[in-house]
Amino acid sequence: MTAPPVTPVDYDKAQHAAYAKGRALSADAIGRYMSLFAEHLPRRRPLSGIDLGSGTGRFSPALAEAFGGPVHGVEPSARMREAAMAQAAHPRVRYMAGEAAAIPLDDATADFVLMFLSFHHVPDRATAAAEIARVLKPGGRFILRSTFKERIPDHWWRSFFTRSHEVEEAMFPSTDEARAIFEAASFATREVVFQEIPFEGDMGEAVEKLKLRAVSVFEHMTAEELDQGFAAIEAAFAAGTIEEKSTFGDFIVFERR
Ligand SMILES: C[S@@+](CC[C@H](N)C(=O)[O-])C[C@H]1O[C@@H](n2cnc3c(N)ncnc32)[C@H](O)[C@@H]1O
Repeated sequence: MTAPPVTPVDYDKAQHAAYAKGRALSADAIGRYMSLFAEHLPRRRPLSGIDLGSGTGRFSPALAEAFGGPVHGVEPSARMREAAMAQAAHPRVRYMAGEAAAIPLDDATADFVLMFLSFHHVPDRATAAAEIARVLKPGGRFILRSTFKERIPDHWWRSFFTRSHEVEEAMFPSTDEARAIFEAASFATREVVFQEIPFEGDMGEAVEKLKLRAVSVFEHMTAEELDQGFAAIEAAFAAGTIEEKSTFGDFIVFERR
């Protein structure tokens, strides 16, 4: 598998305006991710990192704080980068134009690379894997946070959008596919991590955030499907029948040989 089987989302046209707000994470949630990543990264500090597909900079400043940095936020969408520079500036983070298959950094720049929900957007995955190997130091770690198609999370909103499971299966690689791509490019799999994510906040907040539609799955549904789904959510919320569910955020940790 070298290319995503659905049309890639162009974040300059969609998503950029609402992403930071619609996908905001609590400080606790960010802290939990940093603790998890710390379990899989070398113990020495500082560690230099690349947040590849950094978007609006949801994780870049926290990575710099947790691991020392510098952190390079590499992101192809100018609009997402603008949002990052406006809302997620940090003295040890530098945002730059680039993409996974063309990373504008020298060989052996980084101790770690994080791709957080960006790998499924990459069209040329073999080239991306070679690029990630190039910019990592030997022994460096690559953390691939993704949905994997054999373990689609059961979000609280899923049942309101009847096609979302099918769409996500088409969008995301399987764990084996992702491993094969990176193992063919001088990476060894260290661990596949299945991580539960508790439901946070209250359902009213969750509904308001979801209504911003900052979820790339929605880019692959029709306006009618979305309108029907959101109308059903509003009705269920008013009736108090939506179940708060924990979900999961799986990742694979690779080591560059
Ligand atoms: C769902 S957002 C995730 C952003 C950020 N990692 C986060 O978790 O908040 C996906 C990001 O991947 C970026 N992206 C798309 N194609 C990419 C590519 N070929 N290489 C790197 N990033 C890409 C998009 O522009 C978008 O900002």
